[in-house]
Amino acid sequence: MDLKDRRILLGITGGVAAYKACDLARRLQDEGAQVQPILTHGALHFVTPILLQALTGRPAYVELWDERFQGAMGHIVLSRDADALLIAPATAHFIAKLAHGLCDDLLSSVALARQRDRCRLLVAPAMNVEMWQQPATQRNVRTIEADGAAILGPDSGDQACGEVGEGRMLEPLQIVAEVVAAFQPKLLQGRRVLVTAGPTFEAIDPVRGITNRSSGKMGYAIARAAQEAGAEVVLVSGPTALAPPRGVVRHEVTSARQMHEAVLASAASSDVFISVAAVADWRPEQPSMAKMKKSADSEPVQLRFVPNPDILATVAALPSPPLCVGFAAESERLEEHARAKLATKRIALIVANLAQDVLGADDAELMLVGAQSSVTWPRASKIDHARRLIGEIAARLTIRR
Ligand code: CTP
Repeated sequence: MDLKDRRILLGITGGVAAYKACDLARRLQDEGAQVQPILTHGALHFVTPILLQALTGRPAYVELWDERFQGAMGHIVLSRDADALLIAPATAHFIAKLAHGLCDDLLSSVALARQRDRCRLLVAPAMNVEMWQQPATQRNVRTIEADGAAILGPDSGDQACGEVGEGRMLEPLQIVAEVVAAFQPKLLQGRRVLVTAGPTFEAIDPVRGITNRSSGKMGYAIARAAQEAGAEVVLVSGPTALAPPRGVVRHEVTSARQMHEAVLASAASSDVFISVAAVADWRPEQPSMAKMKKSADSEPVQLRFVPNPDILATVAALPSPPLCVGFAAESERLEEHARAKLATKRIALIVANLAQDVLGADDAELMLVGAQSSVTWPRASKIDHARRLIGEIAARLTIRR
């Protein structure tokens, strides 16, 4: 539950995407948030206070002059104990009001009355493509961003008005991920992080190959945690079924040699390289151009394998390498094997785990092995481990400086 006990004011303004805000209210609560809805009069054309009250268990407020608040000061009362004000959808008009500090209704008054250091402002725009691209809107967006607001999206695609382009509100789960990210400490701001993830696939012929059972979940969690921490993240991924975390640049590759090439293109300009991919150690020496047919005499098939490049060791041997972190999936004698890899690959840190325990799972127990240390991190979700690992890496980067 990434938003456990976070108090979020959900401001809904008058756009068609208000219908998605209803689902968003639920998805925020799935992550443990307490959601307090506030609607503008425009929003009432699309959704009702009763619906939002039913979804959140809290009355949905609309009026600035609501007598239910202590001292009739709704805008003060509501904003004082909130951790974030999330405006989704935010119309062009509402963004313009934010940019100019106008406060003629409850939601805009809450936005202005909030304590900026305690209650961050997150804005998910939703509007027609032309309205979004107007210089006036773009100016207003830049203004509120400079004032400290985080702008979530917008996405591009089909719009409710029938036009196509930028201005669609992000989907509820994407907004939840952005809200979670907004609460993470920016430990890697201004840093470049390169991550590999997933398995590789080494072709035998056009329809067959050898691969392994890596799901990519750990590498993707690390890419997400690095991005949440403010880093620019490049993810070089073998074949997986996972969607890239928002804001991460993903290069999809198949074989170890393709991964090697993609990694080398970014490694020298990266501050950190986290090698999570389960890279195939060998590949068939001569993949067949045509599909191999079974022979009539059922003779055993002979395949010759040649070694693949060791991507992590190559990066660690660059003239001025990034901080290199490796992973070791072992079936036994975890620390011993991890120490051996730390030494042969000449890297700063190895994260070791038991392959049979971790492959495809959503959680894991990890052992962190450094030159002079080893520590076990008890079973936790991969994203929790990923965030903790990013903290460890950020601390090592500071020492390195
Ligand atoms: N690795 C790599 N390139 C390879 C093989 C491994 O970059 N060709 C990286 C992995 O991403 C991981 C680390 O090296 O970070 C250790 O990988 P692992 O497969 O556990 O070890 P190997 O070096 O392949 O040794 P072995 O398979 O003998 O355990």
